[in-house]
Amino acid sequence: MKDITRETFELFTRYVVPNYNRNPIVMTKGKGVHLWDSEGRKYLDLFSGWAVSGLGHCHPRVVKALKKQARTLQHVPNVYYSLPQGRLAQLISEKSFGGQCFFCNSGAEANEAAIKLARLYHSSQDRYKIITMHNSFHGRTIATITATAQPKYQKGFAPLLEGFTYVPFNDLDAARQAVDKETCAIMIEPIQGEGGINIVTREYLQGLRRLCDERKLLLILDEVQCGMGRTGKYFAYQHYDISPDIMTLAKSLGGGTAIGAMVARPEVAKCLVPGTHASTFGGNPLACAASIAVFETIDKEGLLENAVRMGNYSLERLRSLQERFPQQIKEVRGVGLMIGIELQKEGSQLVRMCLDRRLILNCTHEKVIRFMPPLGVSQSHLDKGIAILEEVLGELDGGATLRK
Ligand SMILES: Cc1ncc(COP(=O)(O)O)c(C=O)c1O
Repeated sequence: MKDITRETFELFTRYVVPNYNRNPIVMTKGKGVHLWDSEGRKYLDLFSGWAVSGLGHCHPRVVKALKKQARTLQHVPNVYYSLPQGRLAQLISEKSFGGQCFFCNSGAEANEAAIKLARLYHSSQDRYKIITMHNSFHGRTIATITATAQPKYQKGFAPLLEGFTYVPFNDLDAARQAVDKETCAIMIEPIQGEGGINIVTREYLQGLRRLCDERKLLLILDEVQCGMGRTGKYFAYQHYDISPDIMTLAKSLGGGTAIGAMVARPEVAKCLVPGTHASTFGGNPLACAASIAVFETIDKEGLLENAVRMGNYSLERLRSLQERFPQQIKEVRGVGLMIGIELQKEGSQLVRMCLDRRLILNCTHEKVIRFMPPLGVSQSHLDKGIAILEEVLGELDGGATLRK
């Protein structure tokens, strides 16, 4: 073990809160679809750090934008204007539904802002309840773990926030029945990420839109994970011919820098008058410059088209793995490059075996392998990753056969 590896482990043991399950690997460098560790080993990253590295690691356009902005102006409080924030808001608005943006630093903060705005918008009518979906994930603050309808994230943090109602995903009747006179909004991920890559049906999302219109509720779409080109369109809702009242973004919005955004229809956004909400770092020039470079890169490099092409290719290859290994794979589902491989059994062993072969994937919801390569991934990198997956599945399948 090299000194830097040992030193890093020692520092973490002594000084870093132990709230993560970490692999015993110190990452030191990233470029494109690859990461390197402190021992010099090279990894193929087909997970992109929960979709944060949507452009791959250290994309040259993002690096260039960051360097230029770092030399000019890094932080300015929100009592002044700065052009990068305005330009980024314009890009998000024009690529989506013409909303106005509030900037923050993470997905949870973006959702927190959306929850506050929904309540504020309806406060004169005392409407405050928000309907969210089973197996959703909206973040780790008290409000957003309450919005997250999964008890495992809430355990030990009682009392939670009042005013959230949980309904099954893709069940329109249940949502309709859950609305009462105090409901102010419905909040949903068009594709659930942490919940296991669950995709809304067209009828359902359009039905929710109609329900919101009928009952004067706000439709909040959490696109923190599925947004920014991951599904082959800028935003996942754009596959469904509807638009939200509020949308939240983070993860790959900053190309690796920390940024979150809440976007709201102007008529709704205008409730957030001075004094109602704020973020010290929100919309800082550095993060905004990086994020502008993300939009430019997606457009200039045709990454939406690539996500569709490589997504279809991946689905086809992974479905043929499912045919070969039905004892291991139950279902392959996804849109663009947001793909879940649902296993027949718990998936942490498979992820570990892939990591031993220097392939980075992730398992969520116990059995769902998340396959989310960078949007610019090439066919040859996919082939390499899928070949490793095939080898691991073969080994697990052999073990399953032997154990019978
Ligand atoms: C859909 C969704 N919303 C919100 C969040 C929270 O984002 P953050 O960890 O940046 O607070 C996540 C994180 O995984 C997410 O997937």
